[in-house]
Amino acid sequence: MKIFLDTANLDSIRKYNDMGLVDGVTTNPTLLSKEKGNPAEIMREIVKIITGPVSLEVVSTDYNGMMEEAHRLKKYGKNVVVKIPMIPEGLKAVKKLKEEGIQTNVTLVFSANQAVLAAKAGAAYVSPFIGRLDDAGQNGMTLIEEIVKIFKNYNFKTEVLVASVRHPMHVVEAGKIGAHVVTLPPDILGKMTSHPLTDKGLAAFLADWEKVKKENPKLSI
Ligand code: E4P
Repeated sequence: MKIFLDTANLDSIRKYNDMGLVDGVTTNPTLLSKEKGNPAEIMREIVKIITGPVSLEVVSTDYNGMMEEAHRLKKYGKNVVVKIPMIPEGLKAVKKLKEEGIQTNVTLVFSANQAVLAAKAGAAYVSPFIGRLDDAGQNGMTLIEEIVKIFKNYNFKTEVLVASVRHPMHVVEAGKIGAHVVTLPPDILGKMTSHPLTDKGLAAFLADWEKVKKENPKLSI
């Protein structure tokens, strides 16, 4: 299972990348709006830090505008994946970008039908937003199950990128279903690194080691 970081925060990206946990990054205009500084410079910096795929989103909604922005974003680095909204004009852009050898991530996917269409248009990734579906009273994980099954049935190469993840159990469920990628806000990745029994166990080991050292202060490992 690949783990992407869902953020435009450079400190978080560096922190988790240094732990070897970041296979890629996804951003969007909302995430960029939360950071201080020029969004274009932030995006360029992310692309420099991360060697894996970095999804950068277009803000136009017409075909020509999306294509122009896609070409500009792609110049930020070879690992840029252009994020395109799941709208008819977007699918046209996905098809053309695929022909040009530019990978796309179709975002704001809320149904299996949308995922199938995005895959058929040539998307490298589809991003179903599970947390937002849960918020609306639908089961987001059921959508992941459906998409993974359909893509398997027809051997689609498009990867299912689980987005709008809200808690660590979403990650476990997505993994059990066999989704290719989860994109995580940094705080969720942080929660996944810790367990109270790990902290308790480590405190006990260190306390016992201190006892041993009291008897033999010169002892080291
Ligand atoms: C995915 O690429 C999106 O950036 C993200 O997962 C959206 O999540 P949200 O519903 O928490 O905004």
